Amino acid sequence: MKKNISSRLEAAINDQINAELWSAYLYLSMSMDQEAKGNKGFANWFFIQFREEQDHARIFMNMINSRGGEVKLQPIAEVDTEWESPLAAWEDTLKHEQIVTGRINDLMKIAKEENDYASESFLKWFVDEQIEEEESARDIIDILEKIGDNKYGLYEYDKELGARVYTTPSPLAADAE
Ligand code: FEO
Repeated sequence: MKKNISSRLEAAINDQINAELWSAYLYLSMSMDQEAKGNKGFANWFFIQFREEQDHARIFMNMINSRGGEVKLQPIAEVDTEWESPLAAWEDTLKHEQIVTGRINDLMKIAKEENDYASESFLKWFVDEQIEEEESARDIIDILEKIGDNKYGLYEYDKELGARVYTTPSPLAADAE
C-alpha cells in the first residue's frame, strides 16, 4: 500500500505506541504490587488499565497500518515495582496520564501542521479519552485521601474497585464489526 501519512507523524505515532505499551507495563506493575499486598480490587482496576493501554497501542498500530505506514516496535523502559500505598500509586497514575495528555496534544499539533485532517479526526478520540483518564485518577485520589488510614474504608473501597469490568474501547469495537 502506498504510504499516506507524513514520515514525521508516522515516527511520532510509533513513539506513542511505545508510550502506550510503557503505560501498560506501568499499570501491570501497579496491579502486581497491589495483588502482592492483598488488595485484589485495586489489582483488578490496574489490570483493566493494563489491558486498555494495550488497546490504545493497538488503535495506533491499526492507524499506521491503514495509512500504509510501518509499525516499528521499540524497547520498553523499566518501571517501578513498588508503591508505598494505594494513594501513592494513583498519584503516579495521575502524573503519568497528564504526561500522556501532553503527548496526545503534541500529536494533534503535528497533524494540524501537516494539514492531516484524517489524523486530527482520529486523534480526537484520544483527546476525549485523556479527559476521562485524568478524571478517574483524580476521583480515586479524592476518595483515598478521605479514607486515609481507615482500614475498613480501604477494605470497602478495594471491594468497590474490584467490580470494575473491562470493555473494548470503541475504535477497536468498530474494527471488530
Ligand atoms: Fe493510553 Fe492511559 O492513556
